[in-house]
Amino acid sequence: QISSAAYHKNVIDHYENPRNVGSLDKNDPRVGTGIVGAPACGDVMKLQIKVDDQGQIVDAKFKTFGCGSAIASSSLATEWIKGKKVEYAATVKNDQIAKELSLPPVKLHCSMLAQDAIQAALKDYEEKQSKREKKEATA
Ligand code: FES
Ligand code: FES
Repeated sequence: QISSAAYHKNVIDHYENPRNVGSLDKNDPRVGTGIVGAPACGDVMKLQIKVDDQGQIVDAKFKTFGCGSAIASSSLATEWIKGKKVEYAATVKNDQIAKELSLPPVKLHCSMLAQDAIQAALKDYEEKQSKREKKEATA
C-alpha cells in the first residue's frame, strides 16, 4: 500500500500499471543490458534495449527490485526510449524523469537509477557492436 500523500498520481499509475516489464535475451547481439544498483537503499534495476540496423530502439524492457519510485522511473524510461534512436536515449536525464513523476527530493536517486540503467544498457550494446565489427574485420 502506497500513500497518495507521498506519491504523485503519475508514480502510482506507473507503479500499478508498469509498462514494459520483462526481459530480453541478453545474448542477442542486438540487445544491450544495463544492471545498476542504488547504494543508498540497495535497490536494483535491470533495463534492456533492442536496437535495429538503423539505430532505433525497437524494444525496451525492465525489471526493478525496489521502491515504487524506482519502478515508476524505469517504466517511464522504457516508454520514453522505445521507438527512439539510441542517440536520444543517451540524452534522457534523471531530472526529466523526476519532474514528470513529481518525485520528492528524497526519491531523486530512484530516477537516477533509471538514467544510469539506460546508460549502462547503451554501453553494453555499443560494446557488443564493436566486438562484432572486430570479428567481421578479422574474418
Ligand atoms: Fe525500498 Fe528503496 S529500498 S524504498
Ligand atoms: Fe532507492 Fe527508490 S528508494 S531506488
